[in-house]
Amino acid sequence: MLGMFKKLKGLFGRRPVVVPNAAGLLEGEAKTIEVGDMGSDGRQILLCRVGGKIFGLDTLCPHAEGGRLSRGPLHEGRFAVCPMHSYKFDVKTGAPQDVNCSHARTVRCEEREGNIEVFA
Ligand code: FES
Repeated sequence: MLGMFKKLKGLFGRRPVVVPNAAGLLEGEAKTIEVGDMGSDGRQILLCRVGGKIFGLDTLCPHAEGGRLSRGPLHEGRFAVCPMHSYKFDVKTGAPQDVNCSHARTVRCEEREGNIEVFA
């Protein structure tokens, strides 16, 4: 039964984008990747490592005034920052910190066999 489920999931499940060298993303750091065609339906994803785990956020800032969450060190080791107005978002949940704003959109990521799988 489990094997059947895995086959169906493989046929119909969304395949992840595989980003090599998960170990290169250090604790408290973040880097951006692009998934798909940025000229049409592509997305820019911020990959972050917090508490040893990988988290992903869509870089499009929910403040919606043209900013994108920036790469580089995370604020206090766990918040992604939009440089436009310095709003901060918890990379685990996308929750804004100390501002009235929508959540940043989270993206499921898994670390597997030395790579990061991004389900964007
Ligand atoms: S557009 Fe990101 S904080 Fe304003």
